[in-house]
Amino acid sequence: MQKLVFLSFLLSSLISVAQVKDKIAFGPYIQQMGTKDATICWSTLESAPTITDKDGNVKTIGEYKHHKIHLGNLEPNTEYQYDVLNDGSDEGKGTLTTYPDEIIPFNFAVTGDSRNRHDVHAKIVARIMETNPRFIINSGDLVANGRSISDWEAFFGVNKELMRNTPYYPVLGNHEKDSPYYYDLFDLPNNEKYYYFTVGDALFIVLDSEGKQISEPDFISEKNSDDFWKNAFSEYFNTQKKWLENVLELNKEAGFVFIFQHKPLYSAMKNRKAEAEQTRKFWGDIFERHKVQVFLNGHDHHYHRATKNGVHYITSAGAGAPLYDIELTLPETQKSSKIEHFVNVQINKKNAFLYVTDINGNEIETVEIKRRK
Ligand SMILES: [Fe+2]
Repeated sequence: MQKLVFLSFLLSSLISVAQVKDKIAFGPYIQQMGTKDATICWSTLESAPTITDKDGNVKTIGEYKHHKIHLGNLEPNTEYQYDVLNDGSDEGKGTLTTYPDEIIPFNFAVTGDSRNRHDVHAKIVARIMETNPRFIINSGDLVANGRSISDWEAFFGVNKELMRNTPYYPVLGNHEKDSPYYYDLFDLPNNEKYYYFTVGDALFIVLDSEGKQISEPDFISEKNSDDFWKNAFSEYFNTQKKWLENVLELNKEAGFVFIFQHKPLYSAMKNRKAEAEQTRKFWGDIFERHKVQVFLNGHDHHYHRATKNGVHYITSAGAGAPLYDIELTLPETQKSSKIEHFVNVQINKKNAFLYVTDINGNEIETVEIKRRK
């Protein structure tokens, strides 16, 4: 087949005027926050390659250089001003606040499926900023196509002011497509696919429900197709399960345990109910056995909370992707709402409150969680 697509690399002098006026393309933003450590990231536009299709349509694709500095020997629970440009402008400035090394109240934000309605995403981000969270977690599908750099340009544009001062933790969704951009842009603990961190005596574990990005080769016969998909991921997910068991055991004295992954364990959508049941079967009783209080996921674009044996299973995916109907009320369903929203979680010494708030600032529900010990 004739290949009519070609790439040409232009000098950075051809970069559009809008991009040139900013010295920083993405950021600055905060990653890898700890009690004494933090990482500050930012990206600069290096060149503007083009790709031309067979009809002669030319598309420019920004090529970025990713910068990071790692800070150590910081004081716990302390605010620092930083300036990655140090050129007299405000562009490279931000504030970071290290995590506390003692049990004190704090709040964080959860949102999900921001994808491609940028106006909705911007409104949710503005609401989140009003709550002044210590950090934010996005339950996956941050962008519509993780392999499109223009999607990440839009994402970082919407989050610019929030991420300048607030650590941002992503969860891998199916729309991230296991993209190299994801790993270039975020600086995360462990293997960056599944990881954990702690704040005070709260434990936050991010799981990967997506696995590797692979496609089924044409030579796989129909009768072997199911086996191909079952076996392609089994080692990866079994390794992750062992890792999770170990992390929960290591941190068994944590007062609060929150788990995040993109795909739900309880779905209020007819065509996803079976997959959710399969996912539950895979994880078995691990969350109940370790007294996890809250499991948060994205993927189904609405709010849904189910409870089973003391664990809240919350779908929070209302930050920009088109909303889905609530098609099912499960025996475990406690609350559901087809609305754009986010969750502000306030951790106190003896309990925590999940304030589920819609895009207009109205309360959807408030859920109290008790400390584990
Ligand atoms: Fe998804």
